[in-house]
This record gives sequence, C-alpha cells and structure tokens, in this order.
Amino acid sequence: MTTIRIPDSKHVLILAISVALALFLNPSFTLGQTSVRQRDKAVEVRAENLLKQMTADEKIGQLSQTFAFAPGATLEKRIRDGQIGSVLFLTDPAQINKLQRAAVEGSRLHIPLLFGLDVIHGFRTVFPVPIAMAASWDPSTVEKAQAVAAEEARAVGIHWTFAPMVDIARDPRWGRIVEGAGEDPYLGSAMAAAQVRGFQGEYLGAPNHIIACAKHFAGYGAAEGGRDYEAASVSDEQLQNVYFPPFRSALDANVGTFMSAYMDLNGVPATGNRWLLHDVLRDQWHFKGFVVSDADAVKDLKTHGFAMDAADAAVRAFHAGVNMEMAVGSSDYEANLPLALKEGRITAKQLDDAVRPILETKIRLGLFEHPYVDETTAKQIIGNPDHRIEARKAAELSAVLLRNEGGVLPMKSTTYKKIAVIGPLADSKWDMQGSWTFANDVKENVTVLSGIRDQAGPDTEVEYAQGVQISRKYPSPFAALMQGKQPAPWSEEQAKTEFATAVQIAKESDVVLMVLGESQDMSGEGASRSSLDLPGQQQQLLEAVVATGKATVLILLNGRPLNITWAAKHVPAILEAWYPGTQAGNAIANIVFGKSIPGGKLPFTWPRNVGQVPLFYSHTLSHSPKGQDRRYWNEESTPLFPFGFGLSYATFQFSNLQVSKPQIHKGVNTEITVDVENTSDVPGDEVVQLYIHQQYGSSSRPVRELKGFHRISLRAHEKETVKLLLTKEELTYWSSATKSWIQDASMFDMWAGGDSTATLHTTFAVVQ
Ligand code: BGC
Repeated sequence: MTTIRIPDSKHVLILAISVALALFLNPSFTLGQTSVRQRDKAVEVRAENLLKQMTADEKIGQLSQTFAFAPGATLEKRIRDGQIGSVLFLTDPAQINKLQRAAVEGSRLHIPLLFGLDVIHGFRTVFPVPIAMAASWDPSTVEKAQAVAAEEARAVGIHWTFAPMVDIARDPRWGRIVEGAGEDPYLGSAMAAAQVRGFQGEYLGAPNHIIACAKHFAGYGAAEGGRDYEAASVSDEQLQNVYFPPFRSALDANVGTFMSAYMDLNGVPATGNRWLLHDVLRDQWHFKGFVVSDADAVKDLKTHGFAMDAADAAVRAFHAGVNMEMAVGSSDYEANLPLALKEGRITAKQLDDAVRPILETKIRLGLFEHPYVDETTAKQIIGNPDHRIEARKAAELSAVLLRNEGGVLPMKSTTYKKIAVIGPLADSKWDMQGSWTFANDVKENVTVLSGIRDQAGPDTEVEYAQGVQISRKYPSPFAALMQGKQPAPWSEEQAKTEFATAVQIAKESDVVLMVLGESQDMSGEGASRSSLDLPGQQQQLLEAVVATGKATVLILLNGRPLNITWAAKHVPAILEAWYPGTQAGNAIANIVFGKSIPGGKLPFTWPRNVGQVPLFYSHTLSHSPKGQDRRYWNEESTPLFPFGFGLSYATFQFSNLQVSKPQIHKGVNTEITVDVENTSDVPGDEVVQLYIHQQYGSSSRPVRELKGFHRISLRAHEKETVKLLLTKEELTYWSSATKSWIQDASMFDMWAGGDSTATLHTTFAVVQ
C-alpha cells in the first residue's frame, strides 16, 4: 500500500495541482488505487482552500438550491450575489450557460452552479419507467439505459439527477411505485446499484455522466394507506431488512448524493431526522457525499407540527444532516441560517462541514475548469439514433407475459387478414412514456397502433377504435394546470357511438389487441388510487369485445398492478408492457409478432383485488399455516400472479439444485448450481431465481426471500448450469430480538425456479 506523505502545505498545493491537471486534462484516464487516493486528496485540498476564502453568506448560498422554471433577472442577481449553489429544472443548454455565466463570471469566487433535473428514465430518449426496467431483472440493461440518459442530460449541461428512486413499495395504491423497483430489497438493491453505475460511470465526475441521488431516504414507500406524503410507521426490523438495503446498495456503488423524504418516519419527519440522516447515513454508513432535501421539505417541517417556524425548520433540517435545501421559491436556509450562525444555533465548523461535500462534488465534476456546455454538440448527442435502439431493446426486455393460453401470441404477421387495435391507450403518444419526462419530443413516441401497422403484413388490414375515454380528475391547483392538456370529454351520445364502433370493429376482425391501463399521469407523484380497477369504462369494453368470441390479446400500459382478475380468466393472452417509452409501439409490435420473446418478470406481487394490499411474497408465517390461503373468507389470500412471475414463448425446466457445501460455517460463502433447460423449439430468456427460508433463529424469518437471480438466454432445447454465490451477507439479517445484525446457526430451505413459487427444493445448514 502506498501512503501519501504531506510534508507541508506547499507540497500539498503542488500535488493537488499536478493531480488535478492529470485528471482534468485527461478525464478518461483510468485511475489506479493510488491515483484515486491522490485525486481524493487533491479534491479535498482544493475544497478546503476555497472554503477559507468564502464568507458565511457565500457558504450558505452553496446550500441553497432553487427551481428555475422561468429564469429571470432576479435569479441571475441572486446567483451573482453568491446566494445560490444549484439550480434545477432547466433543460435548455443556452439558459443553463447563461446562468452559469452569472455564477462563474459574475460571482466573487466564481463558483460554478450545479444543474439538476429529475432524469428518471431517459432524457430526450425515453426508456421504460423504472418499475418496468426492474421487471427486466437485467441490471446490465438498466445500467446501459441510465448511461444513455446521463449522456443525453450531460450534453445539455445537466450535472445531477434526482434518481434512482430506491424506495421499496409494497402498496400499489401508492402512485410512486412506478418510479422504483417494486417490493423486494434484493432486487431493489441490484437495480439501485445498476442505476448508480449507469448514471455516474466509473467514478464521480466521469465524462458524459452525471451524479446520481438515492431517494427518498427513507421509508417513503410505506405511506399510510398508499397515500402520497403520508406518514410511514416502519419497525426497525423492516427498515433495516427491507427499506434500507437499496439505499445501502446505492451507497456501496458510490452514489454522490441522497435526498431526504417528505413524510414522518415513526413520528419524526425524515427531513428533520438526525438519527436517519446523521447516525445511520454518516456515522454507520460513512456517507461522504451530500444530502439534498426534497422540494420544500425543509419548509414542511413547520407543516408537520415539528418546527416552530421557518427559522426553526432551517436550523433543525441543517442539524439533522440536510446539506442542501431544495426550494421551489424562496429558501429557508438562505433566509434563516445567517442569523442562526450569528446567534450560535449553528457553528462555523458545522457550516463548513455542510458546504464541503458540495464544493467537492463541483470539483470532481470538473466544473471549475469546464463550467459551460457546448450548445452545438448537444443536439447531435441527444438525437443519436442508437439511443432509440437501446430504448426499444429495454422495452422488449421489460415486458412481462402474464397469460398466453392456446399460443395466441406470437401472431404471424401474415396469419390474420384483419387486426383490430382497440383502447384509449392504443394511439395516444402521450401515454407511451410514463411520468417524469421533460425533455423528450412527444411527437416521436411510437404508439402501439403505429407499431402494429408498421409490422402487419401487406395483406393485413389494421382497424382502430378508441372505444372509451379515460382521464384523471385533478384536485385544484392541478386542475388549472391540466386544462387544455386533456381532450374535451365526449358527449354521452358520442361515448355510446365510440363504444359500439369498437365492438363492431372487433366483430369484423380476426384478432383483437386491446390496449388498456392507466393514462401516464395516473401513476407517479401525487397519483395514488384507492382502487386498482381499470379506470373508466375499460372493463366494460373489454368484456364486450371478449363476448364477440374473437381471439383477444390484452396489452397493459400502467405503472402498478391493476385489477385484471376477470381478464386473467377470460382473455387468452395478457402482456404487461408498462409505459415503454419513446419506442413503445415498435417494442410491443416486435413482441406481438414474435421478433422478440418476452422474458420479463414481475417485480411485485400482483393482488386479486385492492382489499388484499399490502400483499408481498416475503411475509412471515404464523398460526394455522395450512389455512394461510384462506385468511379472508371472501377471497383467497394468494395473489393473482406471484412475485417474479412471467411467461415466455419458450418453456423452461429446472433441475439438479445443488449447494456446494450442505453445511456452511458462519461467515463463509457457498456456491449454488442449478440446471435450466429450454424445453421448447424457440429461443427465450429465463430468469433463474433463488429463494431461501431460514427455518428457526433469533427472529422469525420470511417464508421466502430472494437471494440471487440471473437472466439467461437459451436457444431451443439448450441446457445450462447456472452458478450463483450465496454470501454471508445474504444469510445475515437485522434481528429485533438482539437489535443487531446476526447470522444464526439454522437449517435453511432453498428453492430455485422461474418465480417465487418455485418448487425445486433442497436444504442446507449454517453451523458455528
Ligand atoms: C419529488 C422528488 C423530486 C423533486 C424535484 C419532488 O416533489 O418528491 O422526487 O426529485 O420533486 O423534482
């Protein structure tokens, strides 16, 4: 190991300059361990030097982030005065450069701004929504997708994304389930790390990449009743074993920033929660980046009945560990921290500690050397056609085939003379893309109808009818915002005619593709639902079409499980396509016509009806286990589709599940092997899933827990042995009995298969 001696400050300066030069002049230069340490040192020294020159107000300015929906003279003045450290929500490189110029050329210390945006699933090229990408069970696809998003965003001057959202969601009424990876901490952790790698590249500040932000720390997905922003009451056991792991995984992947959550966590607002943001994040996890609040979450500390007033809110968020305040308008930090400093409610050292990681991030990004974005190259990069190919592939890999009775899918493009494409989402460009898309051109979105039209044979007619209208009701003030964005509602008469036309078209066709689900704004932030039913008259339309007796395929566009219990009995083929993004129609047509074979798997348990939620596979077992499938007298306890479920046009068989050592000593890793065979005449992908159950121990453990997975492609009749590593981390859990992480000596069950109901079983023991 090489250590760096620091003889005196002059040498430090020379070292800092030389490393900085090497790094910034050649940023793609791959760094060895020593160089990484030297670079870190150089960054620290530079930030320290800068801190020494800053006034208290300038420091507080670095802690303030503001929205810039319409940047004007006032904002520029605040920037020149050193009152703003970061701006979010700009996507125009010219506007970004203009504000950056105000900071770099107009402010006393020339400290550049950090530009942030919610780059959630693509920028100009829209990829499938995050829940869809999780359904690919393919971290490399997810990493690639976020690398493309990063490249496009960076090309216009964005440095920082507020993603990935790694909140575990077990209640699909919560609209933001669409933004995460679903219910499972193991899958969620894999997706969290993949996204961080994709956004950030090999190191913080890698060229063509942006800084990631793990959000919303923590427990936001456990909102009471699935209502967005509501309190979360989460036991320590659940926090440590379920809600924290994806955050921890993002941190281990070197995520640059965290975002605090809006809601109360066990009675203390997450944004004012020192235990969460300091004790856990800094002391236990040694996080070295910085924490940004959610938008106006500092102000909200007053709303919570936690802070006395705005000044108290600012001081308490600051002490809890929020480095930067994200404010929609005025900043509570800017308004109140200067006085708090004078009065000794915060100290100069605490202020330096809060600012330091923000300066370090700006240095690592190379912003002091290259503050501006090249406005001419931006267009070429974000218009790169290769990105669309990646988006289409990601959409194909994300789709989950839920039912395919009688082999309705794939359809031969020449078999049918008349295909009907029906439904309110079939030809709606807007609804192909899901929420959190700001920089794309909606006109470019390929709808399902146009994808099918493109690929249907020359002798095939494709007929279309919308059938029904769906729209979301907006509480004010959103109502005003959405006015004009939604088509005028049909009259009763017109609604009847449209419905009848759709059924008539179905009757005259050989096969019907029903494109149903939720419009893109029906899930996402502030889009919780008390029902999982298909909105509007879609269910009635589906039943009327199925009653025609025509072969029907249901294509779902949505971000949460919906009530399709009727469809699962009566519609022969169901394809969950999610919100697939820019390339939606091309990806779906490829799957429908068999050019691409679906292999995605559900990242959540699909309930039969909303009364079952929260419903997740990884529950514990208690009294009367035999009756566990009859916990309700009016409904089965089992889901409609289990976690991890998804069909293919191919079929697979699992055999020969082996644990390399049937007795594992605590702390030792072991290898698991299982054979997977494609038993069909077509190629396909299968996701090998490994589940364990600890039979006894210090706490009762879930009936099953995912502890390994691997997506493989197998040719027709190909057989492969898949190896998975079971490490001590996977056999360790946080026990509320001992209040610690523990690996118990115990017997374990293990299953491998294509979903969480896998039956191929073996056992092993963990011994002292
Ligand atoms: C959301 C965050 C988002 C922020 C900025 C908030 O309302 O909760 O997830 O990053 O807005 O857009």
